[in-house]
Amino acid sequence: MAAAYALLLAALLALASSPTMARDPGALQDLCVADNTSNVFVNGFVCKDPKLVKAEDFFFSGLDEPRDTTNKVGSNVTLLNVNRIPGLNTLGISMARVDYAPFGLNPPHIHPRATEIQTVLEGSLYVGFVTSNPDNRLVTKVLRKGDVFVFPQGLIHFQFNYGTSKAVALSGLSSQNPGVITIANSVFGSKPAISDDILAKAFQVDKKIIDRIQAHF
Ligand SMILES: *[C@@H]1O[C@H](CO)[C@@H](O)[C@H](O)[C@H]1NC(C)=O
Ligand SMILES: *[C@@H]1O[C@H](CO)[C@@H](O)[C@H](O)[C@H]1NC(C)=O
Repeated sequence: MAAAYALLLAALLALASSPTMARDPGALQDLCVADNTSNVFVNGFVCKDPKLVKAEDFFFSGLDEPRDTTNKVGSNVTLLNVNRIPGLNTLGISMARVDYAPFGLNPPHIHPRATEIQTVLEGSLYVGFVTSNPDNRLVTKVLRKGDVFVFPQGLIHFQFNYGTSKAVALSGLSSQNPGVITIANSVFGSKPAISDDILAKAFQVDKKIIDRIQAHF
């Protein structure tokens, strides 16, 4: 009995420390198309009856169409996650098209659940990510058409089109639902707002500066 218990404990520990636990769970069937009408809460979505699955569940059209980049940052992300393509449920993958106006920026952000691999289809980009504490090392690269760059899971990263023509990039992401935390929006635009006392101390500036930044979000 004690031996069996020790074995179980060892198995659980091995499972808990397995690197695969940091990714979307592996699929246990060929397909599990998201049933977004179910009231059952699971990690991901409940599978729709396989007999009712159709090709459209795995399909999206129009990713070749340029997106509107006339916004404050001059970029537009079209993310095809499980909410857009229900067939991605349990498959641990998604993709995105990113359009950049001249001098457009995809501002510093994090994907809490995915590593991103990106290629430039048009134009050129100055891209980078920052490693975690205590190093906070900035790793950057200038990418031209056909170049590929990787943004490791959970790290702050950005892409900037420093050129005078538009740019387009395509990304693969290692989650059906990578999630996005845009740093500026989360820190300065939370609802309700984080107290300016806290942010003034965190950023080591006057409260008035914080108030001014918060007013933009
Ligand atoms: C569920 O998915 C269908 C088809 O993909 C979509 O039209 C509908 O709006 C979605 N419903 C919800 C509640 O997300
Ligand atoms: C992105 O582009 C689409 C289509 O051009 C547009 O409907 C959408 O509002 C744009 N989003 C942003 C954030 O500019």
